[in-house]
Amino acid sequence: MKDNIVTVQHLSFTYKDTKHPAVNDVSFNIPKGSWTTLVGHNGSGKSTIARLLDGILLPDENSETLIQIDGITLNEKTMWDIRDKVGIVFQNPDNQFVGATVEDDVAFGLENRQVPRLKMQTIVHDVINQVGMLKFQKSEPQYLSGGQKQRVAIAGILAIGPKLIILDESTSMLDPAGKDKILALIKKVQKENGLTIFSITHDINEASQADQILVLNQGNLLASGSPIEIFKDESLIKSAGLELPLFYKVKNKLIKRGIAVPQEIDNEKKLVNYLCQLNLKM
Ligand SMILES: Nc1ncnc2c1ncn2[C@@H]1O[C@H](COP(=O)(O)OP(=O)(O)OP(=O)(O)O)[C@@H](O)[C@H]1O
Ligand SMILES: [Mg+2]
Repeated sequence: MKDNIVTVQHLSFTYKDTKHPAVNDVSFNIPKGSWTTLVGHNGSGKSTIARLLDGILLPDENSETLIQIDGITLNEKTMWDIRDKVGIVFQNPDNQFVGATVEDDVAFGLENRQVPRLKMQTIVHDVINQVGMLKFQKSEPQYLSGGQKQRVAIAGILAIGPKLIILDESTSMLDPAGKDKILALIKKVQKENGLTIFSITHDINEASQADQILVLNQGNLLASGSPIEIFKDESLIKSAGLELPLFYKVKNKLIKRGIAVPQEIDNEKKLVNYLCQLNLKM
């Protein structure tokens, strides 16, 4: 489909020497320019999907399987073109560093792409500044804290400016304020550059801000839809081993008690306004 940056059909993957597929016949689309979130319990196959989308892992053989990124079908020949379009910030940032200092590390992807030196220095400075790590630009990445490493890894991806950014629990080590700041930064960059974000997270509150949520359970895709569609079904979320965000718990309880909260209400402020109006009418 033209408006999807990612099309996945009948995708399965089984790790060597394991009995069950880690990803089992999964199909989904990621609309261009969207923020799509993949949620699921530990071991449900989320990181495996991220590695499949970047061609780090190759799917189980099946003639119906298709992975298409920005109109290009992923195979061994197109893998390098696709890697220019996709930037992954991995779950464990330690596996991602190649530079001796933070700035060398962030420059690495640009050097590989032969970006002229002066332009490279400007980009590197800008992205390190954006993630709040200027103080550490001469530091060795291995001596940074987990959250600081995640910031540097994000800067490295922002420097290259891919069309699709996959964030695999990439803000899990950040404190709440740091996390909000980085997510706001990524959202800003996303809007300015028309990027698509595919974010893998345990943070159900972060998921509730997404345009689309995919719910994975033991390698199977249980559901996909907007936060409103996904979170109205508490049993679905529970069966995926997850908890509803507090806002949706309250909304669903009110509906159960006979208060006709309109489905389109998707945040606290709108809910409070609605309840106040209801109170005035009584
Ligand atoms: N290299 C590997 N070899 C064998 N099995 C693996 C390997 N990597 C992952 N698995 C298994 O595949 C399944 C999916 O793992 P995956 O890392 O994709 O889960 P995840 O949803 O990302 O989990 P988490 O939330 O803990 O990051 C798990 O059962 C895991 O044990
Ligand atoms: Mg994972």
